[in-house]
Amino acid sequence: MKYLPLLLAACWAATAQAESPGDMLAAYRADAARQTPGFQPSAQRGGAFFAHRFNVSEKMPACVACHTDSPSQAGRHAVTGKSIQPLAPATNAERFTDPAKVEKWFRRNCKEVVGRECLAGEKADFVAFVMGGR
Ligand code: HEC
Repeated sequence: MKYLPLLLAACWAATAQAESPGDMLAAYRADAARQTPGFQPSAQRGGAFFAHRFNVSEKMPACVACHTDSPSQAGRHAVTGKSIQPLAPATNAERFTDPAKVEKWFRRNCKEVVGRECLAGEKADFVAFVMGGR
């Protein structure tokens, strides 16, 4: 048991670098609330956004074109055919733990699919939706 404090310190150091999906949801929510006071994330809106066909790009009309219609399922890139791991943190523990990676893919995917960057509120809704697991 004398190593317990060391072990706890190591765990603390590991968690301090990564964020949890809940931390990320809180950050996007705070961001959205600065633009829209009282903003509350909605998993239902996030699900509708995920399924919505923006039709900006013929090959990538919607998020579901690559991620399938369930975030707990593995997807396939609509252009390259490469497989994509599930987006739901419940199925894939790496998801929504690395803010730089999440921002990079939101930026790229939103520009391609929606034709513009996603708003903080849309990101908060999306994270709330994937955390729901389906
Ligand atoms: C053309 C295919 C494609 C489409 C369409 C697409 N994505 Fe992705 N998405 C990817 C790929 C490829 C990755 C990165 C590979 C990986 O992490 O598995 C990714 C990763 C992500 C991630 C990173 C999550 C994490 O923590 O790792 C988010 C968030 C994301 N996509 C959101 C979206 C949203 C929102 C839409 C719709 C607006 C969307 N994607 C549409 C291909 C796509």
